This record gives sequence, structure tokens and C-alpha cells, in this order.
Amino acid sequence: MEKLCTFLILYSSVHAMAHGNSVDEGPEAVQEWFKNLPNAKEKVTQLHFYFHDIVSGKNPSAITVAESNSSLDSPTMFGVIRMMDDALTVGPEPDSKIIGRAQGIYGSASMEEIGLLMTLNLVFTHGKYNGSTLSVLGHNPILHKYREMPIVGGSGVFRLARGIATANTVWFNATSQDAVVEYSVIVLHY
Ligand SMILES: *[C@@H]1O[C@H](CO)[C@@H](O)[C@H](O)[C@H]1NC(C)=O
Ligand SMILES: *[C@@H]1O[C@H](CO)[C@@H](O)[C@H](O)[C@H]1NC(C)=O
Ligand SMILES: *[C@@H]1O[C@H](CO)[C@@H](O)[C@H](O)[C@H]1NC(C)=O
Repeated sequence: MEKLCTFLILYSSVHAMAHGNSVDEGPEAVQEWFKNLPNAKEKVTQLHFYFHDIVSGKNPSAITVAESNSSLDSPTMFGVIRMMDDALTVGPEPDSKIIGRAQGIYGSASMEEIGLLMTLNLVFTHGKYNGSTLSVLGHNPILHKYREMPIVGGSGVFRLARGIATANTVWFNATSQDAVVEYSVIVLHY
């Protein structure tokens, strides 16, 4: 039994390394990480990237999955729900290097102004954050210059993360509804 455990631990670390993850996400490694938490130092990490929400064209990265009959008559599109797998890039250009994806759902949740309920995971795919995620749950009134949204958790490098993501639209086509949004993220983690 002990041998099997050793084998499993070895296998899971080798497996994690072979896949380019910087963090072992096996259950034993996670338990060990929690045991060491009293000695861990809290860190502050800042991230900056651009979020490409492409609704139009042949290859949209955000698609409408639900809406009410009244949504299209509503000036705020109240009730429209979209699923996204949006690219996160280093720069604002459409062909800029991709460093992750924003995967989740946003829904038009306000009758007074265009205000989205954002529920998404920032899934990083490059560098030391490859395989790590941050979870966002927030209010996004898209016509405001800055929208502050809570980071409510994370995984991998970002276990037990909390922080703030600030969104700032750099480009928006009101006809196609495509947008490029600058994200500045600051998180506390260990
Ligand atoms: C990120 O990790 C994935 C899977 O863990 C791996 O397939 C991929 O090659 C890694 N990407 C980079 C850029 O290191
Ligand atoms: C919504 O629209 C569909 C198709 O036009 C119609 O069949 C349905 O009765 C409508 N539902 C409501 C609640 O108005
Ligand atoms: C905005 O979107 C419309 C509809 O897809 C398109 O015809 C138009 O060229 C776009 N404008 C810009 C500046 O990209």
C-alpha cells in the first residue's frame, strides 16, 4: 500500500511536469499545500491582458444561449445570456499573443442600464500561470469607464486567491457588439 502511494505521488508529479503545469494538482499535493499554509507568505500579483469578446462573424467566441421574448425589445437586452470562450491576449490587437481564455457566462441583469452579471474563469495557458485559474463573479456596467469586479477564488498558483479585476473597454462596435476590453487584475494569494 505504501509502495502504491509512493508510486501514485511520483506518477502525479511526473504527470504534472510532463504537461507543463507548474503546480501539482493531485489531491495529496493539495493536502500538503494546505498543511504548509501557516508558513506560507501572502503575495500580491498583478496581471494585465486584453479580453476579446467576439459575438459576430463566422467564428464567434461568445454565443447567445438563452433570452426571453422580451429581451430584444428591452433597451438593456435584459435577460440575454451568452456563453463565452474569449481569448486573453498580451496586447489589444486581434492577432496579439494569446495567454489564456475567459470561459464562462455573462447575462444582461439590469433593467436600468446595460449591466452584466459576469461569472467566468480566467484560464491561463502560458508561462508560470499555465494551468492556473482565477474566478470572477461581478457586476459589469459596460458603458462605465472602469468596472471593478471581485476575484472570488483561484486554482493552481492562485489557490485561495482574492482580488479585483478592473475592466476598461478599449474598442466596441455597437453594431456587431464585438469588444476588446483591457483587464487589470490584482490578487492576494500564497
Ligand atoms: C501549458 O500546459 C498544457 C497542459 O498542462 C501543455 O499542454 C502546454 O504545452 C503548456 N503550454 C505552454 C505554453 O507551456
Ligand atoms: C415567445 O415567442 C414565441 C415565438 O414567437 C411564442 O410562441 C411564445 O408564445 C412566446 N412566449 C411568450 C411567453 O410570450
Ligand atoms: C462594426 O460591425 C459591423 C457589423 O458587423 C461592420 O459592418 C462594421 O464594419 C464594423 N465596424 C468596424 C469599425 O469594425
